[in-house]
Amino acid sequence: MDHFNYQKGELYAENIPVKQLAATYGTPLYIYSKATLLRHVQAFKEAFAGRNGLVCYAVKANSNLAILQLLAKQGIGFDIVSGGELARVIAAGGDPHKVIFSGVAKTEAEIEQALLAGIYCFNVESAQELDRINAVAARLNLVAPISFRINPNVDAKTHPYISTGLKENKFGIPIEEALGEYQRAQTMRNIKIKGLDFHIGSQLTQISPYIDAIKELKRLIRQLYGSGIQLTHLDIGGGLGVTYSVEAPPLPNELINAAYAELADLFEDVGTLQLIVEPGRSIVANAGIFVYKVEYTKDNLDKNFAIVDAGMNDNIRPSLYNAYMNIITVEENPSADIKLYDVVGPVCETGDFQGKSRQLRLAPGDLLAMRGSGAYCSAMSSNYNSRPKCAEILVDDEKAHVICQRETYEDLWRNEHLLDEAS
Ligand code: LLP
Repeated sequence: MDHFNYQKGELYAENIPVKQLAATYGTPLYIYSKATLLRHVQAFKEAFAGRNGLVCYAVKANSNLAILQLLAKQGIGFDIVSGGELARVIAAGGDPHKVIFSGVAKTEAEIEQALLAGIYCFNVESAQELDRINAVAARLNLVAPISFRINPNVDAKTHPYISTGLKENKFGIPIEEALGEYQRAQTMRNIKIKGLDFHIGSQLTQISPYIDAIKELKRLIRQLYGSGIQLTHLDIGGGLGVTYSVEAPPLPNELINAAYAELADLFEDVGTLQLIVEPGRSIVANAGIFVYKVEYTKDNLDKNFAIVDAGMNDNIRPSLYNAYMNIITVEENPSADIKLYDVVGPVCETGDFQGKSRQLRLAPGDLLAMRGSGAYCSAMSSNYNSRPKCAEILVDDEKAHVICQRETYEDLWRNEHLLDEAS
């Protein structure tokens, strides 16, 4: 359930007509619903009620400061993958002590930044990274809390570009090498072992891949305890899917309950570990829509195109992953015929589309809304074709807040410099 619904044939964002927002702020436009966002956070918090858990929102899904601020106010933590994301979390009022730092290529500068900020844990992805973290921590005379990201070699049954837990993926440490790395870490003076972590992919619509991974890692955890290495947490990553069309992914409490059930025998033997999750998409995707305008329609012999003012630079998911995202009309247009349209954008690339073969009743000037656009859309946008980035609006009941203003042409070249006359 979200808060983008039709009232008398017209789409609303909470209690504001989408048409009104488009008229005020222009298109293309990202619109988020505060109530939907908070509802999703609440679902995760409730799933952990009475249990020792921590929800770390994956900042990469949508890193707008106001969104991070709202989430920080809910008391949750953050999963980051760069120094820039850490800086955003802190600027938004997030607690660095609840920050987990994932990612395969942490630089020395980023490690130093994170150590000085006092983050909760580094998710270490290689032996070399462990050495680097130890060295930076030693130089700063600090102790780095770490967990190893283990690659359990399980199939997440999702798109290959967003599958991360298979042997052939670049992420994590092969499970066969894990014990040796933990033993090495235990001898390091500036390293404190905290946990174990996996993240097997994104847009997972079944619980079974998580359970397969937990089964693999339970064996490893027993081995670790057998050799005197104790943990305080287990991080099962993000990845919970959302409904873009007909998917029926598990709810947060179904996932968390299934994880606890699978972990019950282990917790009996070694004691309860804190359970961490790193959801991104499941918190923000359906809290956002992307609104754009039909500029032209064009009929070829065997195709109808709806040419809209939004491009792959604004939302690259359809082009990059062939992702299906639901496109609806903001208002019914009874005078137009229903046709099968490819919804395409202004960018000079054949791959610039938002949707293919969509049955829509539309005419030039009509507004379309793409559901499920809160995650990995504005966050992955670019200025390709010198297109200013879109405005972003957060709706709270009858109030609209501009949480990111539309870029101007000057913004496009703000960091560029002309050569001086003589050159
Ligand atoms: N933790 C780690 C270590 C991750 O790499 C990711 C996502 C997450 C958590 C959050 O996963 P989520 O709950 O959002 O599925 N751009 C792609 C998705 C890439 C996901 C990358 N990692 C898309 O638009 O589908």
